Amino acid sequence: MLLGIIKENAPGEFRVSMTPETVKKLVKTGLQVLVEQDAGIAAGYPNSDYEAAGATLADTATILKCDLVTRVRKPTPNEIEKMKRGAVLISFLEPYRQDGTLEKLAEVGVSAFAMEAIPRTSRAQSMDALSSQANIAGYRAVLEAAAQYPRFFPVMMTSAGSAKAVQVAILGAGVAGLQAIATARRLGARVEAFDVRPETREQIESLGAKFMDLQLGEEGTGHGGYAKALSEDAQQRQQAALAERLKKMDVVISTANIPGRRAPVLITEDAVKGMRAGSVIIDLAAENGGNCPLTESGKVVKKYGVTLVGHTNYPALVPGDSSSFYGKNIANLLGLMWKAAESGTAHQLKIDLTDDILEASLVTHGGEVRFGKPKSTHAVATASQPTAAAAQ
Ligand SMILES: NC(=O)c1ccc[n+]([C@@H]2O[C@H](COP(=O)([O-])OP(=O)(O)OC[C@H]3O[C@@H](n4cnc5c(N)ncnc54)[C@H](O)[C@@H]3O)[C@@H](O)[C@H]2O)c1
Repeated sequence: MLLGIIKENAPGEFRVSMTPETVKKLVKTGLQVLVEQDAGIAAGYPNSDYEAAGATLADTATILKCDLVTRVRKPTPNEIEKMKRGAVLISFLEPYRQDGTLEKLAEVGVSAFAMEAIPRTSRAQSMDALSSQANIAGYRAVLEAAAQYPRFFPVMMTSAGSAKAVQVAILGAGVAGLQAIATARRLGARVEAFDVRPETREQIESLGAKFMDLQLGEEGTGHGGYAKALSEDAQQRQQAALAERLKKMDVVISTANIPGRRAPVLITEDAVKGMRAGSVIIDLAAENGGNCPLTESGKVVKKYGVTLVGHTNYPALVPGDSSSFYGKNIANLLGLMWKAAESGTAHQLKIDLTDDILEASLVTHGGEVRFGKPKSTHAVATASQPTAAAAQ
């Protein structure tokens, strides 16, 4: 069984889907690993480390023809056409975008697993790439804020005078938000945070931040650790309350997100106008419409004296660790289908659709798009026979 690791070619993407450490473990299970020349260079993993781990270097065309292909970013239609019928692909695929990628993968007969579709359950935690990458994004977002902010973060006493600690607001205390709180605290910031899920209060306080009580009269706990949308009234109350609170903040990191929906607006134009000159807003939801309508996706802009940062790929700015975590997430997912039936026998690839994690994340199979469709279960398909019947 040939596993191929692609060299990412999207602009600004410095991650790689598998590191030498993960490759070494997979090679021991009998997988033959091919890695595209220089695939890990930008993340700090040279070709020689992959070779030492047991991988062989190959060109793009050879990697695309492998039985199993791993990558960080979704393939282009041209790349998909070059893939092998019946191959398995594991990657972020942005399945919500409906941009034709899934249809193309199905047409070519690729069984694709979308890392975004891994359920947020305890058993799937070690495969949850959205969380592993959001954690890094929360950390890197604070470093970005510190670099953009024209003053110190911590209290600073010098012979030339002293500086006060920066006042940071974190909006949304999910994976990225909690890591942002922890990182800002480590840098000496005074931190207040808010989330619509009341259970986050304890988590926020345990990290040494103050819970920002916006008194919305409504909570937003949804399913599976995610939020649900607030009513129109509560949204307006939140925007008005934040416009007041943010007048006293120097840095805002906003991470509010509701799965499958456009990001909620938390920081209105009027709120930005009311903020101190030199303040910084890091809008982690920039790619999904932004928590502030003034954010420009992929850009750093200054409006009303406030710097708005709309970077869309913070994990790629910490590529060594984000690749390492992502590779482990993939290897753990692969472990659910690449295994020995009995101890002492060779590993085989089997996609067992009775496994809830495989069932949820397999977005194309047997020539069909499964994402967003009612799921069929209780079937076992092998990668070498990905017929429509196998998935029924
Ligand atoms: N820019 C990047 O590089 C990058 C990288 C990773 C993640 N992200 C984005 O960061 C955001 C957060 O990711 P995450 O994994 O932490 O998501 P998450 O679902 O774990 O956290 C989002 C939080 O927002 C909260 N929330 C929802 N509506 C809210 C509201 N009106 N007010 C306050 N809080 C609200 C939710 O309760 C939840 O705790 C997402 O938009 C994600 O796409 C961006």
